[in-house]
Amino acid sequence: QPHIAYQGDQLMVECVRLSDLAREHGTPLFVYSKAAMLSALAAYQRGFAGRKAQICYAMKANSTLAVLQVFADAGCGFDTVSGGELARVLAAGADPAKVIFSGVGKTRAEMKQALQVGIGCFNVESEAELDVLSEVAVSLNLKASVSLRVNPNVDAKTHPYISTGLKGNKFGIAHEDALRAYRHAASLPGLQVVGIDCHIGSQITETTPYLDAMDRVLDLVGEIEAAGIPIQHIDFGGGLGINYNGDTPPEADALWAQLLAKLDARGYGQRQIMIEPGRSLVGNAGVCLTEVLYLKPGEQKNFCIVDAAMNDLPRPAMYQAFHQIVPVTPRAGSVTADGTVYDIVGPVCESGDWIGKDRQLQVAAGDVLAVLSAGAYCMSMASNYNTRGRAAEILVDGTKAHLIRQRESAFDTFALEQLV
Ligand code: LLP
Repeated sequence: QPHIAYQGDQLMVECVRLSDLAREHGTPLFVYSKAAMLSALAAYQRGFAGRKAQICYAMKANSTLAVLQVFADAGCGFDTVSGGELARVLAAGADPAKVIFSGVGKTRAEMKQALQVGIGCFNVESEAELDVLSEVAVSLNLKASVSLRVNPNVDAKTHPYISTGLKGNKFGIAHEDALRAYRHAASLPGLQVVGIDCHIGSQITETTPYLDAMDRVLDLVGEIEAAGIPIQHIDFGGGLGINYNGDTPPEADALWAQLLAKLDARGYGQRQIMIEPGRSLVGNAGVCLTEVLYLKPGEQKNFCIVDAAMNDLPRPAMYQAFHQIVPVTPRAGSVTADGTVYDIVGPVCESGDWIGKDRQLQVAAGDVLAVLSAGAYCMSMASNYNTRGRAAEILVDGTKAHLIRQRESAFDTFALEQLV
């Protein structure tokens, strides 16, 4: 039973009508299904049954406090990439021991903050970072647990902006430099080597890049341990794609059955495993509701101008990403028959401000549309461009709809500013 689906002529999130939410809270409005998040999580949990595994939700995908709370309550750890994310996830009730800290540009202040709250592990991305982290840890009389992010040089076959495991990317330590970096880490007084990690990209829809990356990582585990440095955990990153438009990524449990077979074959089956999924846990658990403001027919293009824009939904403008767009209450007749082909665009003053191109829809001004697959990398990437306040957010749990973020007012957007 899908958690976001039509019942009769009403698009529902669990037991709540989206048309009611739009009327009550206004638009643009993000609406998430708690059950959809938990069911995405359950696919990973099934995959790891009987294993030592820690799922660290990559909170950059959607970092709203109540969303973090759902995953914290479900026992997840978190992958963070800034001091801001760390503060945010602790405010949501996360256990710091289950937090890991990734990213190529951690500052000394962020390292200090993370050491002081006692995070579980730093995913270190360069040799220079090792030296700085050791120095910071020594100055606090602490030891930092580290895992080195290695770059396996495999092509994740995804959009170039979200591919991270190739040699030309800024991420991780090159495969051939990894052993030297591990020796270096093991020699530093402020560090305790605990793991290895890799992350090859995002919106990955094929299994092969994962299998290749796992082989490369396990080769390194063998070499590093032969050099006398034990590897307690293997963190295999995130990146599993979702279905935006007929995409067919592997299911999390099926993918992990294949990956775990590789671990078993090399005798690493009982190692602690960690993963950092983001999009696959929240992407298809959310929609963005937007109202049609104007229809603007033209000679070359018909435009459907809506009240959500690139500041709310930046993925189309940034990556030419596709999101399905459907009416919350389809007009009599059918969704596609007799529809007109529109470019669905927002009010922001840029031609790049589009949400969908060449979509057949039967709509009128005042209708509410739902932009699907909007749970990941939408609200967390939203901005105030054009002094547009960020949207409100609702978390649906069964029949209950909780307002989890108020709509930002214009005043909120300039509250920290000062005239001279
Ligand atoms: N771990 C690391 C180290 C990462 O860099 C990322 C994502 C993840 C985990 C989670 O990846 P996921 O499971 O969500 O694919 N804004 C882009 C996606 C950027 C992903 C960046 N790193 C988009 O909207 O498509």
